[in-house]
Amino acid sequence: MYKILEKTQFSEKVFKFRIEAPEMAKHAHAGQFLMVRANETAERVPFTFADWNPEEGWVEFIFMVIGKTTTMLSTYEPGDSLEDVTGPLGQPTELGKGTWAVIGGGVGLAIAFPVARQLAATGHEVHAIMGARTKDLLLLEDQFRSEFDDEHIHITTDDGSYGEKGVVTIPLERLLQAGKVDHVFCVGPVPMMKFSTLTAAKYNTPITASLNPIMVDGTGMCGCCRVEIDGVTKFACVDGPDFDATKVDWNDLRARQAAYRTEEGQALKAYEEANCACHR
Ligand SMILES: Cc1cc2nc3c(=O)[nH]c(=O)nc-3n(C[C@H](O)[C@H](O)[C@H](O)COP(=O)(O)OP(=O)(O)OC[C@H]3O[C@@H](n4cnc5c(N)ncnc54)[C@H](O)[C@@H]3O)c2cc1C
Ligand code: FES
Repeated sequence: MYKILEKTQFSEKVFKFRIEAPEMAKHAHAGQFLMVRANETAERVPFTFADWNPEEGWVEFIFMVIGKTTTMLSTYEPGDSLEDVTGPLGQPTELGKGTWAVIGGGVGLAIAFPVARQLAATGHEVHAIMGARTKDLLLLEDQFRSEFDDEHIHITTDDGSYGEKGVVTIPLERLLQAGKVDHVFCVGPVPMMKFSTLTAAKYNTPITASLNPIMVDGTGMCGCCRVEIDGVTKFACVDGPDFDATKVDWNDLRARQAAYRTEEGQALKAYEEANCACHR
């Protein structure tokens, strides 16, 4: 059992858990993730390490409520325990030299933040490009602002409700054009990662994508997280989640992510009805 030490709510749908996990805290690196099973009958879901402290023996992850399991997790409180948590899993992000643009779109900002912070902590100049559909869906702005000054934060919203109207490729292209970026890291919805990749490729700038296919065991056993990289099948949980973005088959990834949409919708509806006062 893994005890929840702290719960922080950043917005209506975004939470951070700090959990007691002394062994995991000793071995975690930026870009790696853990798998959580909330209770005996729950599915296992992956979350990226947001922070960890080996001296105090805890790790943190940030999650956005989007379906059944994250809805259920959001009801857990400090003092409650998670049935099991496995990690660190996956390969750490390779922190190559030079100036980086770190792009996070939507919930991808929760994954981009620890990478951006680790790059900054290891002496890299970092431009954080934060994208969301609307102002309300923009995650972790305060956290990014606590690490980076205004000149290094670039915010876009699809509807123009905050920051620059448009998509993340607009500030990315501006930075690339000005020769201010040596390497790009991106994580978020597939179309965002795909178009960021095309933009970086135009300027011959290397780009890494953190891929988020559905995962079940997280240890390379089930094959659920298969991704096609340069025509070769890789398992995102053990070979990734970071890959050379120019080699990713985005159509395949998108199709695999959406494979269980109907069942996911049904699971959320059943969970909400079972926990709603008028359906009990
Ligand atoms: C390596 C990795 C790191 C991640 N890190 C974070 C993070 O730090 N914060 C965060 O909010 N989210 C993160 N995610 C996504 C997170 O795992 C999903 O949001 C979560 O599993 C959704 O579960 P659900 O039951 O609430 O939603 P559902 O309604 O079941 O699913 C909604 C969508 O989430 C994705 N998803 C569902 N189940 C899984 C699964 N078992 N594995 C992966 N994706 C799934 C699918 O695209 C699905 O369409 C990460 C995913 C991966 C692969
Ligand atoms: S999640 Fe099972 S092989 Fe990667």
